[in-house]
Amino acid sequence: MSKTVLVTGGAGFIGSNYCRYILQNRPDDRVVILDALTYAGNLSTIADMQSNPATAGRIKFYPGKIQDEVVVNGVIEAEKVDYIVNFAAESHNDKSILEPGSFIQTDVYGVFVLLDATKRHNLERMLHVSTDEVYGTIDNGQFTENSPIEPNTPYSASKAGGEMQVRAHVITYGTPALTTRCGNNYGAYQYPEKLIPFFVTRLMDDKKVPLYGAGNQVRDWVYVFDHCAGIDRVLHDGKIGEAYNIGSEGERTNLEITHALLRLLGKPESLVKHIPDPRGGAHDKRYSVNADKLRALGWKPAHNFEETLEQTVRWYVDNQSWWREITAKPDYQAFIARFYGKYLGEDL
Ligand code: NAD
Ligand code: DAU
Repeated sequence: MSKTVLVTGGAGFIGSNYCRYILQNRPDDRVVILDALTYAGNLSTIADMQSNPATAGRIKFYPGKIQDEVVVNGVIEAEKVDYIVNFAAESHNDKSILEPGSFIQTDVYGVFVLLDATKRHNLERMLHVSTDEVYGTIDNGQFTENSPIEPNTPYSASKAGGEMQVRAHVITYGTPALTTRCGNNYGAYQYPEKLIPFFVTRLMDDKKVPLYGAGNQVRDWVYVFDHCAGIDRVLHDGKIGEAYNIGSEGERTNLEITHALLRLLGKPESLVKHIPDPRGGAHDKRYSVNADKLRALGWKPAHNFEETLEQTVRWYVDNQSWWREITAKPDYQAFIARFYGKYLGEDL
């Protein structure tokens, strides 16, 4: 039966790829995007789906904030929404160090508004997209869904706050909500503030890339379509009230990622500048999650890291107009100057 999925934050990196995933894999379903178009959201990110005659009739966009209950409830009523999948968030750790307040507004209060609307309109399900960062850092082994929630940055604490809203609404009101916790994503349309697109876009212009400390932090890199497939599986087959880890066992250090990017772009090691760690003690050393609970639902990562990293780099090479429009904006340049200016100096 045809369903209408409200994708909040659908004009951002993972949300837009989830829209592509639905349009490709659930041919009967419609997608409605609600997105505030913050600095990280762009209409150019969803233009391919809106302009393609094969998908244009199944996707609709509304501007608006998830904290705005009038907008959220209005869209749900007008579009007869069945499910909400919430990607809307302030998502960058470095920005959260400079401006933590906006993270609480969106990542905590906004989640409450969506939960309240899910209850009010008797929606079938709401899936909240969270992060493996809520567990904090782990030197050895892996986090399971029962590991303690110990976030270390203002961003991860705000995501943990959103998750606590989900938990409380499930227990108190029986709201049909679920949570996913994924590792670091890479793929097309990622805003060029995160490690991979930031480094790729700078290296393409022969600019130095700022590697924090020795670059020995470890992240579990997940291709964005594997994340989207995991979310879709949890939305349809997950147990209400439960959280599901999503990980690819694709652990790599930041230095390894940097060397892979240099290799793929044919750039010299001299473009890497090790800088004092701007995250200081809040820089989590390693993330690693056990995804057996989701694998038991039939999901597994379907993509090879080396192949999809190469495809991702090629996408940035082939789609320069998408990211150059962003990197030319004054707000982008102001953030880079404010955050990296003192470390990169004349290499900025
Ligand atoms: P992103 O920053 O690329 O996109 C966020 C989107 O949300 C943007 O389109 C932005 O305009 C929109 N938005 C922000 N505040 C809003 C608000 N108040 N109301 C409506 N829309 C708003 O983020 P992303 O990397 O695509 O991450 C999406 C989600 O996945 C986030 O919740 C993030 O915590 C989570 N996550 C991200 C990763 C990752 O590696 N990027 C990994 C695990 C989980
Ligand atoms: O683990 C999931 C999380 O992954 C998501 O919840 C976040 O939304 C997402 O941004 C990401 O968080 P990270 O902080 O791990 O991602 P980021 O790309 O900012 O940094 C990855 C690693 O690279 C981290 O150890 C810091 C380092 N880094 C990052 C940048 C931007 C650098 O060394 N230099 C840089 O310039």
